[in-house]
Amino acid sequence: MKVQVCIIGGGPSGLLLSQLLHLQGIETILLEKYSREHVLSRIRAGVLEHGFAKLMREAQCGERMDREGEIHKGFHIAHDGVLDHVDLYKYSGGNSVIVYGQTELTRDLYEARERFGGKVVHNAEDVALHELKSDKPYVTYRLGDETLRVDCDYVVGADGFHGVSRKSIPKDVLREYEKVYPFGWLGVLSRTKPVSPELIYVKHDRGFALCSLRSQVLSRYYIQVPLTDKVEDWSDDAFWAELKRRLPEKVAADLITGPSIEKSIAPLRSFVAEPMQYGKLFLAGDAAHIVPPTGARGLNSAASDIYYLYHALLGHYKKGDDAGLAGYSERALARIWKAQRFSWWMTMLLHRFPDRLAYDDQLQRTELGYLFSSESAMRQLAENYVGLPF
Ligand code: FAD
Ligand code: DHB
Repeated sequence: MKVQVCIIGGGPSGLLLSQLLHLQGIETILLEKYSREHVLSRIRAGVLEHGFAKLMREAQCGERMDREGEIHKGFHIAHDGVLDHVDLYKYSGGNSVIVYGQTELTRDLYEARERFGGKVVHNAEDVALHELKSDKPYVTYRLGDETLRVDCDYVVGADGFHGVSRKSIPKDVLREYEKVYPFGWLGVLSRTKPVSPELIYVKHDRGFALCSLRSQVLSRYYIQVPLTDKVEDWSDDAFWAELKRRLPEKVAADLITGPSIEKSIAPLRSFVAEPMQYGKLFLAGDAAHIVPPTGARGLNSAASDIYYLYHALLGHYKKGDDAGLAGYSERALARIWKAQRFSWWMTMLLHRFPDRLAYDDQLQRTELGYLFSSESAMRQLAENYVGLPF
């Protein structure tokens, strides 16, 4: 088979790009390793910036997001016995975020690909990228017993952190920056009324916690746990008890608990691979960079990659102008590093670090005190959380 763009990975990055290109008459095929049910069973992002939402609308996939997503103009930070408020709207100059789950957004994108007759291949195994430095790159994959080949102009690696695309770039070309944090987030999804209409980020001596939501009847909670913990170690009762210990008394008293409908541990990692291009291969989203989830930047960083790459491919196919493709990596990385900085800062601000000096704890307390006493510190938090422009 021959297409213009072969996209590896059916997460939000790959789906969004294939949908946008399709609407412009650019032919794509999308190869996803797992089934649609499997992809949709992963509970991940919940907070979207308006830049992402705008792209969803441009892709004609924003209708349900606009109907069911919640606009949030602020959130809380609980620390040292107080519950402080971050007024995003005020300090970002009238901006906000949208609470709409990645699962629903991915479902909307799959439905759109189906509606528009897009080529999406599930259970594509042993995906391999070939001749990336030539004018005739191609991708092979296995479907059952059959090995298939896709010839294309460009390959987009949107196959997440563990995918094959980044690994297809020779080691002497790729520079990787990585910071692994000594803890993870244990997340629980429950069909219960959220404890607070706005998110609450919690810094506590026992460790970080987060009260989030997907809707007014679906709550998402997280607690920081050691990397050695396994999901099986945590019964629902143990989870709720530990969450309550970390919440301010009043919030804990209001918490409605219930059976978990999903429970998983996500390790925390910062990672950037440079460059994001190798010959005819372009990396996008988690395939090229990861942030710890604290600042809700992961999916939102993928949005700017997709925006830049989409416009670069339009430049090539519609105007014969390759400047966008040539400058893609540099342009994308400039915004990526800002999201890295913010996510690192928020992670350092709110987590409990094993073996930390008393000096570091004092600095953390001072940083929080400063944040809630300085309008300029608030502004920098707000403008980063709602998403820097792209
Ligand atoms: P992925 O979602 O990882 O998709 C990649 C796809 O490629 C997958 O479907 C995978 O199956 C497929 N694949 C992998 N290998 C292959 C292969 N060899 N061949 C073919 N297909 C392959 N971000 C935010 O912006 N806001 C948040 O609030 C937020 N909260 C988060 C909370 C948690 C607990 C976690 C873990 C993450 C959170 N994120 C958040 C980050 C966000 O979920 C990711 O950044 C996002 O999933 C990246 O999308 P992607 O399409 O680039 O990669
Ligand atoms: C969620 C995840 C985050 O990482 C975050 O910062 C806020 C919300 C969530 O899953 O709801």
